[in-house]
Amino acid sequence: MIRVQNVTKVFETKDGPFTALKDVSFEVKKGEIYGVIGFSGAGKSTLVRCLNFLEKPSSGDIFIEGRSLKDQSAIDLRKERHRIGMIFQHFNLFQSRTVAGNIAYPLKLAKWPKEKINERVDELLAFVGLEDKAKHYPDELSGGQKQRVGIARALATSPSILLCDEATSALDPQTTESILNLLKRINAEYGITIVMITHEMQVIREICDKVAVMENGKIVEEGSVFDIFSNPQTSTTKNFVKSVMNDQLPASVLNKLNDSKEGRVCRLIFKGDSTGTPILSETAKKFNAHINVLFGQITELQGKPFGNLIVQIIGSKKETEEILDYWKNRLFVSEVEKRAS
Ligand SMILES: Nc1ncnc2c1ncn2[C@@H]1O[C@H](COP(=O)(O)OP(=O)(O)O)[C@@H](O)[C@H]1O
Ligand SMILES: [Mg+2]
Repeated sequence: MIRVQNVTKVFETKDGPFTALKDVSFEVKKGEIYGVIGFSGAGKSTLVRCLNFLEKPSSGDIFIEGRSLKDQSAIDLRKERHRIGMIFQHFNLFQSRTVAGNIAYPLKLAKWPKEKINERVDELLAFVGLEDKAKHYPDELSGGQKQRVGIARALATSPSILLCDEATSALDPQTTESILNLLKRINAEYGITIVMITHEMQVIREICDKVAVMENGKIVEEGSVFDIFSNPQTSTTKNFVKSVMNDQLPASVLNKLNDSKEGRVCRLIFKGDSTGTPILSETAKKFNAHINVLFGQITELQGKPFGNLIVQIIGSKKETEEILDYWKNRLFVSEVEKRAS
């Protein structure tokens, strides 16, 4: 659907050339919600602007449904962009146009007849739940309502792709939730492929299928949201996961563990069906060891249960190894360092 192939972007600045994207490649499948997360300055906005060639890559190419954007004329690129909607952190609405006027704008550009425009605007207003705001101006709306207008405008020409650059970053948590739900509906009901740019891991957890982690213009890690949450590899990714999972042991527990020096401490990840298995009591019965639960949490990832348990195994070295072996085939197990982080 979207194929990013070896995209590099160099900006000429007064201090010399600056490479904002370095050889970035990934693919977004049709109907997927694909997240790109990174700290400020990582290159996310540059990347999303390259996806529709608002920013032309210095090298590399973007393919939309197999069509290369690199060699297209300005006219063809404009047509291509009708199939790619975009929404922004600060909504970018026309202040001098009403809500209806904002939504109608891309349809006017596309030279739709007036009657059809009105029909489509009504339909979109109903979809985003703003029927009563048609004649209002943007500065009379809340942040969440403004983003709904942004979304309706982005959907006006029935795009197959929606690019979202920090679309919820200016919103409070509750409003963020409602906008994310709206994006989920757009994905589910219209099958629109969504690329979500964000610096908030909670956004990735809530709606994305896959995620790429960006740092200094590069993708440092990529995978399914499930895999990234259960087994992050780079320190940046680990920090992002930590920021929402809240699954660190309290310092007092860590200190006690450090003092006792006894046992092995492990994190167990239960996914999907395995969350319902009484694996700890099974283990206790089967092996002659004690299992001390230090931390436990079940959250939801993409509608599936995701359990996170930190346990201490107290037993002989042999028993401990046997238990770890037994778990390995049933759960995702990783060792937890016994020091405050
Ligand atoms: N037009 C530009 N000219 C020069 N440097 C730019 C330009 N746009 C972005 N940059 C630089 O590229 C880097 C990445 O920016 P950006 O893509 O906005 O990151 P993010 O969206 O992840 O915060 C930053 O260091 C930024 O200063
Ligand atoms: Mg940005």
